[in-house]
Amino acid sequence: MTKIISKGEGVIDFQKTSVRAGATYNMLLSLDQCDHTFLTFNRLIRSVKKELIKEDMARPEISQVISKLWQVFLFKKIMLRTGGHNHHLRTSTMPKNILTLLQKKYCRSDLQNGVSTEHISVDRGSALHGWIVNEYLNVAKTLFRGVFGYSAHIRFVSNQEGKKQVWEERYMTDHSNFHWDEDLNSFSLIVYLSDVSKDDGAFKVIKDSKMFQQNLYLSAYDQCLCDFNGRDNHIVSNRVGHHLKHVREDDVKVFTGLSGTSVSFYGRHILHDGGFPSAGGSRIALFLEQRNFLTRPLNFLAKLLSHAL
Ligand SMILES: [Fe+2]
Repeated sequence: MTKIISKGEGVIDFQKTSVRAGATYNMLLSLDQCDHTFLTFNRLIRSVKKELIKEDMARPEISQVISKLWQVFLFKKIMLRTGGHNHHLRTSTMPKNILTLLQKKYCRSDLQNGVSTEHISVDRGSALHGWIVNEYLNVAKTLFRGVFGYSAHIRFVSNQEGKKQVWEERYMTDHSNFHWDEDLNSFSLIVYLSDVSKDDGAFKVIKDSKMFQQNLYLSAYDQCLCDFNGRDNHIVSNRVGHHLKHVREDDVKVFTGLSGTSVSFYGRHILHDGGFPSAGGSRIALFLEQRNFLTRPLNFLAKLLSHAL
């Protein structure tokens, strides 16, 4: 039985638009404001480029920004089927017989500390594949053009020694890992193969992000600036949680659940945290991602267009 998560109330200013101003910012707003044709978009992009030159941005960096802006435009025009499903977030349950087979194969108690993954290939004649097609692939096809399959892996996460080393920066606060995935068509499905409590690194989302209308041009620009100058030298990055001072417990939906619990979500728009367990916690889960034949040609075309200007 599938359940749609209901909307919460209020929306946090995730892109910090209230503290922005200036010509470049206004242009990034214009890019997002209406359904541009190729020609009108091209004209605006030329203006953005002129503005970035005025700001003394280096040529290779300008090229990177412009390429990312074209990527967003082409994605919206060609790959994205509809804006109506932009905030997909849905829970479901994997049937017991399929789950048991996966658990027999992949669940073990002697997990190494940290995160490890194992790529798996799913037999196209299996009940698992049938479930994935219904629950994931067919949904992905309603959201995006170019979907031709999926990739699957098992992710093992364990924190036997407490939060240490590489995890400290990423999980500095309870909310510092909340992020938008960088891929514009990032749409994933997670199935817990082990029971997951709050201490086992349960998947979490910031509820308000479900209603937030992200300006993809602005976030692409922000991410570029963070890549050039470091995350702490810009207003916000895709790792939005890193830039938020406070996130109330009430603002977060934590997906705890028994094995078999699944969540599908549009990771580019839903602010999510894959979760890292508290000391002593662990989680084993199946992850699915779409394979899309349009990704490479569109990125290539965006690069080409950024040089053509
Ligand atoms: Fe993610």
